[in-house]
Amino acid sequence: MTEFKFPDHALELLESLKSGRVLIGVSDGVEMNLMTVAWGFLGYTWNRPVFIAMIRPSRYTHDFFRRTDVFSVNFMSQEWQDALNFCGTRSGKYIDKFRETGLTPIEGVTTSVVVVKEADKVLECRVISREALTPFSLNESISSTFYGDHSYHSLIFGEITDSYLLP
Ligand SMILES: Cc1cc2nc3c(=O)[nH]c(=O)nc-3n(C[C@H](O)[C@H](O)[C@H](O)COP(=O)(O)O)c2cc1C
Repeated sequence: MTEFKFPDHALELLESLKSGRVLIGVSDGVEMNLMTVAWGFLGYTWNRPVFIAMIRPSRYTHDFFRRTDVFSVNFMSQEWQDALNFCGTRSGKYIDKFRETGLTPIEGVTTSVVVVKEADKVLECRVISREALTPFSLNESISSTFYGDHSYHSLIFGEITDSYLLP
Protein backbone atom coordinates (compact mmCIF):
# COMPACT_ATOMS: atom_id res chain seq x y z
CA MET A 1 0.00 0.00 0.00
CA THR A 2 1.35 3.43 -0.97
CA GLU A 3 -0.34 6.46 0.49
CA PHE A 4 -0.92 9.54 -1.64
CA LYS A 5 -2.10 12.98 -0.70
CA PHE A 6 -5.38 14.12 -2.23
CA PRO A 7 -5.71 15.75 -4.81
CA ASP A 8 -2.87 13.72 -6.34
CA HIS A 9 -4.32 11.33 -8.96
CA ALA A 10 -7.57 13.36 -9.04
CA LEU A 11 -7.78 13.31 -12.85
CA GLU A 12 -7.38 9.51 -13.01
CA LEU A 13 -9.93 9.10 -10.21
CA LEU A 14 -12.46 11.23 -12.07
CA GLU A 15 -11.86 9.34 -15.32
CA SER A 16 -12.49 6.04 -13.52
CA LEU A 17 -15.65 7.46 -11.98
CA LYS A 18 -16.98 8.71 -15.31
CA SER A 19 -16.32 5.26 -16.80
CA GLY A 20 -18.29 3.55 -14.01
CA ARG A 21 -15.25 1.74 -12.66
CA VAL A 22 -15.82 2.65 -9.02
CA LEU A 23 -17.22 0.48 -6.23
CA ILE A 24 -18.57 1.95 -3.02
CA GLY A 25 -17.83 -0.40 -0.11
CA VAL A 26 -19.98 -0.39 3.03
CA SER A 27 -20.17 -2.50 6.17
CA ASP A 28 -22.19 -2.32 9.37
CA GLY A 29 -20.03 -4.78 11.27
CA VAL A 30 -22.34 -7.68 10.42
CA GLU A 31 -22.95 -7.40 6.70
CA MET A 32 -21.06 -5.71 3.91
CA ASN A 33 -21.93 -4.65 0.38
CA LEU A 34 -20.54 -3.21 -2.83
CA MET A 35 -22.23 -1.02 -5.40
CA THR A 36 -20.99 0.40 -8.70
CA VAL A 37 -21.20 4.17 -9.12
CA ALA A 38 -20.50 6.62 -11.92
CA TRP A 39 -21.86 9.80 -10.41
CA GLY A 40 -20.06 11.69 -7.67
CA PHE A 41 -17.83 14.59 -6.78
CA LEU A 42 -14.26 15.06 -5.66
CA GLY A 43 -13.38 18.37 -4.05
CA TYR A 44 -13.24 20.45 -0.94
CA THR A 45 -15.87 21.68 1.45
CA TRP A 46 -15.85 22.82 5.08
CA ASN A 47 -12.02 22.98 4.67
CA ARG A 48 -11.80 19.24 4.07
CA PRO A 49 -11.15 17.02 1.06
CA VAL A 50 -14.38 15.21 0.22
CA PHE A 51 -15.92 12.58 -2.02
CA ILE A 52 -19.67 12.99 -2.49
CA ALA A 53 -21.55 9.86 -3.57
CA MET A 54 -25.04 10.06 -5.13
CA ILE A 55 -27.04 7.06 -3.95
CA ARG A 56 -30.70 6.41 -4.68
CA PRO A 57 -32.77 5.39 -1.63
CA SER A 58 -33.86 2.25 -3.52
CA ARG A 59 -30.28 0.84 -3.30
CA TYR A 60 -29.50 -1.67 -0.56
CA THR A 61 -26.27 0.30 -0.05
CA HIS A 62 -28.40 3.29 0.96
CA ASP A 63 -29.68 1.36 4.01
CA PHE A 64 -26.13 1.05 5.34
CA PHE A 65 -25.78 4.81 5.58
CA ARG A 66 -28.39 4.77 8.37
CA ARG A 67 -26.06 2.51 10.38
CA THR A 68 -22.52 3.40 9.36
CA ASP A 69 -20.40 6.54 9.26
CA VAL A 70 -17.67 5.20 7.00
CA PHE A 71 -17.36 3.96 3.44
CA SER A 72 -14.68 3.22 0.88
CA VAL A 73 -14.38 4.37 -2.71
CA ASN A 74 -12.59 1.69 -4.72
CA PHE A 75 -11.19 2.55 -8.16
CA MET A 76 -10.98 -0.58 -10.31
CA SER A 77 -9.14 -1.45 -13.53
CA GLN A 78 -10.94 -2.61 -16.69
CA GLU A 79 -9.96 -6.16 -15.85
CA TRP A 80 -12.79 -6.11 -13.29
CA GLN A 81 -15.48 -4.98 -15.75
CA ASP A 82 -17.62 -8.11 -15.24
CA ALA A 83 -17.58 -7.57 -11.47
CA LEU A 84 -18.45 -3.89 -11.96
CA ASN A 85 -21.39 -4.83 -14.18
CA PHE A 86 -22.55 -7.37 -11.61
CA CYS A 87 -22.30 -4.94 -8.68
CA GLY A 88 -24.14 -2.33 -10.74
CA THR A 89 -27.10 -4.50 -11.66
CA ARG A 90 -27.70 -6.87 -8.74
CA SER A 91 -28.77 -6.02 -5.22
CA GLY A 92 -26.66 -7.11 -2.28
CA LYS A 93 -29.88 -7.54 -0.34
CA TYR A 94 -30.14 -11.03 -1.80
CA ILE A 95 -26.56 -12.00 -2.61
CA ASP A 96 -23.00 -11.68 -1.31
CA LYS A 97 -21.35 -9.60 -4.03
CA PHE A 98 -17.83 -10.35 -2.78
CA ARG A 99 -18.41 -14.08 -3.07
CA GLU A 100 -20.20 -13.84 -6.42
CA THR A 101 -17.54 -11.66 -8.08
CA GLY A 102 -14.38 -13.10 -6.53
CA LEU A 103 -13.47 -9.73 -5.03
CA THR A 104 -11.78 -9.84 -1.61
CA PRO A 105 -12.89 -7.76 1.40
CA ILE A 106 -10.07 -6.32 3.53
CA GLU A 107 -10.09 -3.93 6.45
CA GLY A 108 -9.45 -0.26 5.90
CA VAL A 109 -6.40 1.53 7.25
CA THR A 110 -7.71 3.76 10.00
CA THR A 111 -11.40 2.99 10.05
CA SER A 112 -13.66 -0.03 10.26
CA VAL A 113 -14.47 0.36 6.61
CA VAL A 114 -14.45 -2.54 4.14
CA VAL A 115 -12.05 -2.11 1.21
CA VAL A 116 -11.71 -4.10 -2.04
CA LYS A 117 -8.27 -5.73 -2.11
CA GLU A 118 -8.19 -5.79 -5.94
CA ALA A 119 -8.73 -2.00 -6.26
CA ASP A 120 -5.96 0.12 -7.82
CA LYS A 121 -6.71 3.17 -5.72
CA VAL A 122 -8.80 3.64 -2.59
CA LEU A 123 -10.32 6.58 -0.73
CA GLU A 124 -11.51 5.92 2.79
CA CYS A 125 -14.23 8.32 3.88
CA ARG A 126 -16.06 9.35 7.02
CA VAL A 127 -19.62 10.60 6.50
CA ILE A 128 -19.94 14.26 7.45
CA SER A 129 -23.34 14.99 5.88
CA ARG A 130 -26.30 13.28 4.23
CA GLU A 131 -28.44 15.46 1.98
CA ALA A 132 -31.55 14.57 -0.03
CA LEU A 133 -32.31 15.99 -3.45
CA THR A 134 -35.86 17.28 -3.76
CA PRO A 135 -38.12 17.98 -6.76
CA PHE A 136 -37.97 21.66 -5.82
CA SER A 137 -34.16 21.71 -6.11
CA LEU A 138 -34.01 20.24 -9.60
CA ASN A 139 -34.15 21.79 -13.02
CA GLU A 140 -37.30 20.48 -14.79
CA SER A 141 -35.40 18.77 -17.62
CA ILE A 142 -33.18 16.88 -15.15
CA SER A 143 -36.16 15.96 -13.03
CA SER A 144 -38.13 14.53 -15.96
CA THR A 145 -35.12 12.71 -17.45
CA PHE A 146 -33.72 11.12 -14.30
CA TYR A 147 -36.49 11.10 -11.69
CA GLY A 148 -39.64 9.82 -13.38
CA ASP A 149 -39.78 7.30 -10.53
CA HIS A 150 -39.33 10.03 -7.86
CA SER A 151 -36.34 8.14 -6.43
CA TYR A 152 -34.29 11.23 -5.68
CA HIS A 153 -30.63 10.61 -4.91
CA SER A 154 -29.15 11.15 -1.49
CA LEU A 155 -25.84 13.00 -1.47
CA ILE A 156 -23.47 11.31 0.96
CA PHE A 157 -20.62 13.66 1.85
CA GLY A 158 -17.53 11.71 2.90
CA GLU A 159 -14.46 13.40 4.30
CA ILE A 160 -11.46 11.65 2.75
CA THR A 161 -9.50 10.28 5.71
CA ASP A 162 -7.06 8.08 3.75
CA SER A 163 -6.02 7.77 0.13
CA TYR A 164 -3.68 5.10 -1.19
CA LEU A 165 -2.63 2.86 -4.06
CA LEU A 166 -2.86 -0.91 -3.68
CA PRO A 167 -0.32 -3.27 -5.30
C1 LIG B 1 -21.92 2.00 -14.42
C2 LIG B 1 -22.96 2.13 -13.34
C3 LIG B 1 -22.98 3.27 -12.56
C4 LIG B 1 -23.94 3.43 -11.55
N1 LIG B 1 -23.94 4.58 -10.79
C5 LIG B 1 -24.86 4.72 -9.79
C6 LIG B 1 -24.83 5.90 -8.95
O1 LIG B 1 -23.96 6.78 -9.06
N2 LIG B 1 -25.80 6.00 -8.01
C7 LIG B 1 -26.77 5.05 -7.82
O2 LIG B 1 -27.64 5.20 -6.94
N3 LIG B 1 -26.79 3.92 -8.60
C8 LIG B 1 -25.84 3.73 -9.54
N4 LIG B 1 -25.83 2.59 -10.29
C9 LIG B 1 -26.82 1.52 -10.01
C10 LIG B 1 -26.43 0.63 -8.82
O3 LIG B 1 -25.06 0.26 -8.86
C11 LIG B 1 -27.29 -0.65 -8.85
O4 LIG B 1 -28.64 -0.31 -8.70
C12 LIG B 1 -26.89 -1.68 -7.80
O5 LIG B 1 -27.48 -2.91 -8.14
C13 LIG B 1 -27.25 -1.29 -6.39
O6 LIG B 1 -26.80 -2.31 -5.54
P1 LIG B 1 -27.34 -2.51 -4.06
O7 LIG B 1 -28.85 -2.66 -4.14
O8 LIG B 1 -26.66 -3.76 -3.58
O9 LIG B 1 -26.94 -1.31 -3.27
C14 LIG B 1 -24.90 2.40 -11.30
C15 LIG B 1 -24.86 1.24 -12.08
C16 LIG B 1 -23.89 1.09 -13.08
C17 LIG B 1 -23.86 -0.18 -13.90
